[in-house]
Amino acid sequence: MSRPVLSLQGVSQIYSSRNASGWGWTTVRAVDDVDLDVHEGETLAVVGESGSGKSTLAKLLLMLNLPTEGTVAYRGVALKELDGAQRSEFRRQVQAVFQDPSSSLNPRMTVEQTLGYVIRRHSLATSAEQRAFILKQLGSVGLDPPEQYLGRYPHQLSGGQQQRIAIARAMMLEPKIIIADEPLSSLDVSIQAQVLQLMQDLRVRTNVGFVVISHDLGAMQSIADRTAVMYRGRIVEIGADIYDKPAHPYTRLLLDARLLPDPRRGRIRSMAAAASPPRSTALEGGCRFRDRCPHAIQICAETEPKLRPVGIGATKAACHRAEELTGATTTEKQAHAALGEK
Ligand SMILES: Nc1ncnc2c1ncn2[C@@H]1O[C@H](COP(=O)(O)OP(=O)(O)OP(=O)(O)O)[C@@H](O)[C@H]1O
Ligand code: SF4
Ligand SMILES: [Mg+2]
Repeated sequence: MSRPVLSLQGVSQIYSSRNASGWGWTTVRAVDDVDLDVHEGETLAVVGESGSGKSTLAKLLLMLNLPTEGTVAYRGVALKELDGAQRSEFRRQVQAVFQDPSSSLNPRMTVEQTLGYVIRRHSLATSAEQRAFILKQLGSVGLDPPEQYLGRYPHQLSGGQQQRIAIARAMMLEPKIIIADEPLSSLDVSIQAQVLQLMQDLRVRTNVGFVVISHDLGAMQSIADRTAVMYRGRIVEIGADIYDKPAHPYTRLLLDARLLPDPRRGRIRSMAAAASPPRSTALEGGCRFRDRCPHAIQICAETEPKLRPVGIGATKAACHRAEELTGATTTEKQAHAALGEK
């Protein structure tokens, strides 16, 4: 595989905040000792329940946060050691798309003004060429006919159209990687499929890579080359085959939770509904999933499992019992219990 565009080595992000009483501080290891490579042209999905550290990971990759520990590198150079030229190359080649396009677009700027601003700032075209450049970008994200969109303000666009503008704005800089934090969650289900398709088309056309954060395992299964599963700040499983052959009991739980009937509403439960908060906030030593794991044994309480290769594929999992549990199923009763339900 090619050299990674971005890599994390032993990266942790520790947040401190005042505790509820106002006396003293509590610390959260939002991202905890993570190693990760991101390659051009690949789609890497990051999944996990609320609070598992996905957005913090995205901010570290975008250099919006500096890590408390460890190294974030761009093309092999630690971000803090990039010189001015490398830093501006990084700023162009690694772009972001956020969850809510209506808040990431300026409500007082038309589409032409929004995209024109980026063109001028990065000298992408002369003023004579600007309009043709913008029309081309709009066409490339499926806004057709593009002339119709030039004079529109964000409130005159649907959510899907707004997200296409946000993607066009990122793509104008010809990035190598786009980090998209929950890009689908504010969109209707039918529009989500179109935006996913657009991302796939862009990848095929331009070889741009995506890091897509999502609660929707079904959507990620359809586009991801690799998927990283986060739990309490750690990557507990990463690989191409995690949907068919999950090696970590938490991955299995997330997959099974999609299929549990919801007794209150009588419909298929989504992963978002399954994202119950961890029952205890701190587990000293041992596996941090053990209080919810139906397969926990003595060693799980004593030694923290490392992320390591499992089987003959490229899957890695942080579970002492990964080999024997790969592909194992969770009973419905066990899944309900792990979700904190009777
Ligand atoms: N600025 C901050 N200050 C203090 N704690 C923070 C801050 N940002 C995040 N956290 C905490 O860090 C942990 C990870 O948060 P993060 O937003 O990365 O999770 P997430 O996986 O993106 O969750 P969600 O799916 O809800 O978006 C959480 O416990 C959160 O409360
Ligand atoms: S290490 Fe033990 S507790 Fe942790 S996921 Fe594996 S079996 Fe469960
Ligand atoms: Mg988040």
